[in-house]
Amino acid sequence: SLAGTRTHVSYELKDDVAVIRFNDPASKVNTLSVQMQSELTEVMSEIWSNGAVKSAVLISSKPGCFIAGADINMIQACKSREEVTRLSREGQKMFERIEKSPIPIVAAINGSCLGGGLEFAISCQYIIATKSRKTILGTPEVLLGLLPGAGGTQRLPQMVGLCGAFDMMLTGRNIRADKAKKMGLVHQLVDPLGPGLKPAEERTIEYLEEVAVGVAKGIANNTVPLSKEKSVMQKLQDTVMGLGPVKKTIYRTVSEKVQKQTQGLYPAPVKIIEVVNTGVEQGREAGYQAEAENFGKLAVTSESKALIGLYHGQVTCKKNRYGNPEREVKTLAILGAGLMGAGIAQVSIDKGLNTILKDATVEGISRGEEQVYNSLNTKVKKKALSSFERDATLSNLSAQLDLTRFSSADMVIEAVFEDINVKHKVLKEMEAVIPPHCVFASNTSALPIKDIAAASKRPEKVIGMHYFSPVDKMQLLEIITTDKTSKDTLASAVSVGLRQVCVCVCVFSGISDGPGFYTTRCLAPMLAEAVRVLQEGVDPKKLDNLTTSFGFPVGAATLADEVGIDVAAHVAEDLGKAFGSRFGGGNVEVLKTMVEKGFKGRKSGKGCFIYGKGKKDKSVNSDAEAILKRYKLSAPPSVSSDSDIQYRLVSRFVNEAVLCLQEGILTNPVEGDIGAVLQLTGVLVLNHLKSILMAHLCCGRLVSTMKRFEEVYGNQFTPCQLLLDHAKDSSKKFHN
Ligand SMILES: *[C@@H]1O[C@H](CO)[C@@H](O)[C@H](O)[C@H]1NC(C)=O
Ligand SMILES: *[C@@H]1O[C@H](CO)[C@@H](O)[C@H](O)[C@H]1NC(C)=O
Ligand SMILES: *[C@@H]1O[C@H](CO)[C@@H](O)[C@H](O)[C@H]1NC(C)=O
Ligand SMILES: *[C@@H]1O[C@H](CO)[C@@H](O)[C@H](O)[C@H]1NC(C)=O
Ligand SMILES: *[C@@H]1O[C@H](CO)[C@@H](O)[C@H](O)[C@H]1NC(C)=O
Repeated sequence: SLAGTRTHVSYELKDDVAVIRFNDPASKVNTLSVQMQSELTEVMSEIWSNGAVKSAVLISSKPGCFIAGADINMIQACKSREEVTRLSREGQKMFERIEKSPIPIVAAINGSCLGGGLEFAISCQYIIATKSRKTILGTPEVLLGLLPGAGGTQRLPQMVGLCGAFDMMLTGRNIRADKAKKMGLVHQLVDPLGPGLKPAEERTIEYLEEVAVGVAKGIANNTVPLSKEKSVMQKLQDTVMGLGPVKKTIYRTVSEKVQKQTQGLYPAPVKIIEVVNTGVEQGREAGYQAEAENFGKLAVTSESKALIGLYHGQVTCKKNRYGNPEREVKTLAILGAGLMGAGIAQVSIDKGLNTILKDATVEGISRGEEQVYNSLNTKVKKKALSSFERDATLSNLSAQLDLTRFSSADMVIEAVFEDINVKHKVLKEMEAVIPPHCVFASNTSALPIKDIAAASKRPEKVIGMHYFSPVDKMQLLEIITTDKTSKDTLASAVSVGLRQVCVCVCVFSGISDGPGFYTTRCLAPMLAEAVRVLQEGVDPKKLDNLTTSFGFPVGAATLADEVGIDVAAHVAEDLGKAFGSRFGGGNVEVLKTMVEKGFKGRKSGKGCFIYGKGKKDKSVNSDAEAILKRYKLSAPPSVSSDSDIQYRLVSRFVNEAVLCLQEGILTNPVEGDIGAVLQLTGVLVLNHLKSILMAHLCCGRLVSTMKRFEEVYGNQFTPCQLLLDHAKDSSKKFHN
């Protein structure tokens, strides 16, 4: 037997049940790597040839992860489309053998069961999943520009119906166990909490295994049926779905929706629909063929490569690359209980940080506390948290008006008014009460950290932590160091940030931490250009249309409203002072006049648009249009076509991003990509920014386009040196 040499898959006989356990010893999660697959194949043939085995259980030895997906590196290592297609073919064959297994196989899932892992599970005869909060099922391939390539596109529609399958495959969203049961994705749920157990006493993986072994025996002796109970609703759905015209309508509706959401920029969703259709209409074999071929085609597209690049970048930014701080931050103090301060407090207590929230007024404190309570309580209502957990979490929040407990703070984050004198005053007050090891972090979006640190007795402890609103939704935190900030201070900030924001932290260090750092600096020129476009008479709806159809998730006019017209005006002025005419474009007076009239954007109900109650309920604000008319500029025809307008907006964003790299504000282009995408979308979603990647793909075209704009508008469009270098030498790459 080869058992002695196997490292990823092992099995053990419990009576006549083979319990197959998998565990990638070198990783926190299991993936379907080459090694895992070949050991699985080996183990399965041993089991199938053993006449004493009557059933099998598939289970992970990692408590929080079944299989998190296929190994992406395996796909990336392929040299051609044909090679990827072959991989897909092999996966299909392996799971087909599982599906046709002579003995019943029970998949026992706790934790993440995604992508290839889910395709594996659904080829088994029976699926058990725990109701643990960690248990999620899904097919996220579309988020990487791919499709489920190991039979998933063929099995899912049969299991959950066409609509359910499209929903899963086109959104890539995670599905919790109870929902999965309702959809027909799993047969049986296991409650991880026995009667009378508290959340902390969740049952272990051994318990799950015991349940699964019992079920496997039951299937083998015909006491547990393999069919799923179907609700009347499901049965009705099955009947209706069987009708040709209904199916046609579904394909059409789904296709239209995809076209609207992706603007035709992403090929993967279109291929998913096509491949499902082929399988449903022409049978399994044709379906497999289409799946494998299109999987290969998609894997070599620039869209998929870019999305996979972003995925890797996100993984990089999720790690603390700066080591553990000397002292763990246990107590965090936040100055200012506004929307942002309370938001930071909320994500902090959520992650078990002892948190002090200070404000100058009683009203301020009450409002902040209420915000934190409400957000936790929403989770209770959604059953994502028990009221016991809510109260335990809240007990770590101490709201106060004075500085009493600040002597025990390990880190202070200030979110006070953006004025250098106010910041200096606060810094000095703090340094009088906080202990010497305490880090002082500023949530400024525009003031250089070195200017703030200039008033400090211990500048090595001063750092910038720029959060994005709403803190609990945005997965981005921009951390800014100065030449004096110590490595340990940086390590503290990154480790706290990773806990709070949890998904992504970008660190932009720089001898030259300039105004606006990175994210604001890229956004500001684009918004300035957007204002000029509006002044040239393009209406806000059209501007939104041009930006979203280019691939931006949010239109430029809506983005200005979301950011806040007042914030935009402030930033335009500050950065204009710092960087001069490169930040020119539209007239700042337009924004200031809008603010005077109360048109501060979405938060005030009016900006470029007027916002109603519903999310989508908005119409053009004609009063704002009247202001724009007063500042009307002529639109030079040579640079005003729809495509010109798109490139004017995008090139200014990209040029500034590349300039940040050139100046050393950004130390790593990966952080630049992640920062830009997350800033604009909050999360990495399907519908993200193609333009970020444009600079990497075709600098030559970008530079020549910018030069054409430069002739008309001047130095806002002067391409930076690094961009010129890349345009001249196409072998140069921003990323390795
Ligand atoms: C499920 O995973 C969680 C998180 O890793 C773990 O604490 C728990 O014990 C597991 N439960 C079962 C039943 O496997
Ligand atoms: C079938 O197997 C289950 C689980 O081992 C056992 O409890 C049950 O008694 C068996 N029933 C029959 C009819 O053999
Ligand atoms: C409260 O904060 C402390 C750290 O000071 C932490 O150990 C504890 O787990 C937190 N409690 C909760 C319920 O998160
Ligand atoms: C923190 O930064 C964000 C983003 O710039 C800003 O919206 C917010 O107002 C800041 N908070 C304060 C109170 O300075
Ligand atoms: C933009 O406008 C065009 C032409 O009016 C329309 O076909 C397209 O669907 C619109 N796109 C968006 C994103 O609104």
